[in-house]
Amino acid sequence: MHVSVEQGDITKVETEAICLGIFQGVQRPGGAAGAVDRALDGALSEVLADGDFSGKKGEVFWLRTRGKLGAKRVLLVGLGPSERFSADVVREVSAVAARVAKSLPELTALAHGAGIGGLDPQLAAQATVEGTLLGLYRFEKFKKPEEPIKLERLRIVEHSAEKIEQLKRGAQQGQIIADSVCLARDLANEPGQSLTPRELARRAQELAQELGLRCEVFDEKILEQMGMGGILAVGKGSDEPPRLIVLEYNPHPIPPPLRERGQGEGRPIVLAGKGITFDSGGISIKPREGMEAMKYDMSGAAAVLGVMRAVARLKLPISVVGLVAAAENLPSGKALKPGDVIRISNGKTVEVTNTDAEGRLVLSDALVYAQRYNPQAVIDVATLTGACTIALGKEAAGLFSNDESLAQKIQKAAQQTGERVWPLPLYEEYKEIIKSEIADIKNSANKGPQAGASIGAIFLKEFVNYPWAHLDIAGVAYDVESRLYHAKGATGYGVRLLMQLLQDW
Ligand code: BES
Ligand code: MN
Ligand code: ZN
Repeated sequence: MHVSVEQGDITKVETEAICLGIFQGVQRPGGAAGAVDRALDGALSEVLADGDFSGKKGEVFWLRTRGKLGAKRVLLVGLGPSERFSADVVREVSAVAARVAKSLPELTALAHGAGIGGLDPQLAAQATVEGTLLGLYRFEKFKKPEEPIKLERLRIVEHSAEKIEQLKRGAQQGQIIADSVCLARDLANEPGQSLTPRELARRAQELAQELGLRCEVFDEKILEQMGMGGILAVGKGSDEPPRLIVLEYNPHPIPPPLRERGQGEGRPIVLAGKGITFDSGGISIKPREGMEAMKYDMSGAAAVLGVMRAVARLKLPISVVGLVAAAENLPSGKALKPGDVIRISNGKTVEVTNTDAEGRLVLSDALVYAQRYNPQAVIDVATLTGACTIALGKEAAGLFSNDESLAQKIQKAAQQTGERVWPLPLYEEYKEIIKSEIADIKNSANKGPQAGASIGAIFLKEFVNYPWAHLDIAGVAYDVESRLYHAKGATGYGVRLLMQLLQDW
C-alpha cells in the first residue's frame, strides 16, 4: 500500500473517493464534513436528516458528487457515539472503509479523529493507516481471492499546515507497525505442515538479514550442550527437531555485545515467544474437535518476530532481544511421557504430569537464557492456557508480573493500543499446587480445574530473576470477532501493544 499525507482542501482533491467519518446522531455536520456538505448543496445533511445514515459505528453510505467536488464519490462511515470515540474506533472504521472501497484504486481520507474527534494528529494518522492495512489483510497463500483487492493507495489530506509533520510521522509509524502485525498474522495462520520449528528459524534468519539484526539459531545438538531439557523434551516426539531462535536489535553504533552489558542504560528488553508450531498435546493428547487451531500455538513467537521487525524499521533507541522457543508437540514412540522427569537449563527438575502443558517447558529454557542479558525487563508472550480464555474470553490477554511498575507500563500501553490486558494473580499459594514428590516442581496440577492460567504463570516465575511479565494470549491470538479490523484467523495480538511499550520506554 502506498500511503501519503498531503496538505489540501478536501472539497478540491481530485480522487476516486473521499472517506468522511460521521459521529452517531449528528444532523448538521461540522468541520471538513460541513465543507463537503456545503459543496454538495446540502446532500449530506439531507441523508442525515432522512435517517438514511445514522452514524452507527461501522455503518457506511456512498454518495455521488456529480462534479460538485474534486472527488467522484464520498464514502460516509459511522464513528459511533462521540462519548465512546477512541483511536481504536478510528482503526475499526478505517478497516471498514478500506474493505468497502477495496475495488477502487485509491481512497482519500482525513486522519479520522484529528479534527473534531480531538485525537492527537499523529495518533489519528497512525490509527487510520493501521486500520486500513489491518482491515485489508487476508491470508491468501493457499486460496484464490474471491474479489481481488485493487486498493493500493491511501491519501491522507489535511487542511492545516501545522499538522502535516505529525500526520506524516503517524502515518509512517502506522504503516510499519501494521505491516509487522500482518507478518505476525501470516506466520500464525500458516499450517504446522510448512511452518515447522526449522522453517520458523529460517524465516527469522531471513528477517534478520533484511533488517540488519543479529540472529542465532540453536539446533538440537547445541540445545543438548546448553542443557535445554525443556525445549528438547517437548520436541523429541516429533521428526521435526526443536530450535531456540535469538534475534538481537542493538541501536548503539559501537556495541559491546548485548550479553556483556553491565548495569544501567543499554541493557536490553527481552521478549520471549512460545513457538509451538503445532500442539497435539503429545501423549496427553488433545480431543479431536478444534485441534486444527493448535497451529496458532506459535502466535507468541509470531508477535515477537513482528515486534523485532517494527523495532528495527523504526530504529528505536533501546536494545531489544527476541527469543523464540520453537518445537512441535507430537506423540510418538520417542515422545515425552507423563511421569517423566526432565531438567531445565538452570538445573531445576520438572516432573511432567501432563505433556499438553508444554508451553511452560519450552519457555522456561528461554527465560533462563534471558538471564544472561542482565535485562531491564523480560516479557514472554504465549498461548499458554485454555484457562485464560475461560477467565477473560477473547477480550483481553492475562497479565502476570513480578514487578508493579512493569505491569503498569504494560497496562498503559494496552489502553493506548486497544490490545487489552487484565491482571491476574501470582499468589505464593499456587506454588503448593505444583510441588512434586519426585522432582523440584511438576508442570501441571492434577487436582481438578483451578486457576489454570495462574498455575502456568507461577511455573514460569520459577525461572526468572529479573523484572518480568507474562502475557497469556490464548484467547486473543486468533478468531476474535469483536474488532472490525480483524480477519478470521490470527489477530497478530501483541505487536501493537509491545511496540507502544517499547516506544514509551
Ligand atoms: N496451547 C495450549 C493452550 C491453548 C488452548 C491455547 C486453547 C489456545 C487455545 C496449551 O499448551 C495447553 O494445552 N494448555 C493446557 C494446560 C493444562 C494441560 C495444564 C490447557 O490449557 O488445557
Ligand atoms: Mn498444550
Ligand atoms: Zn500449547
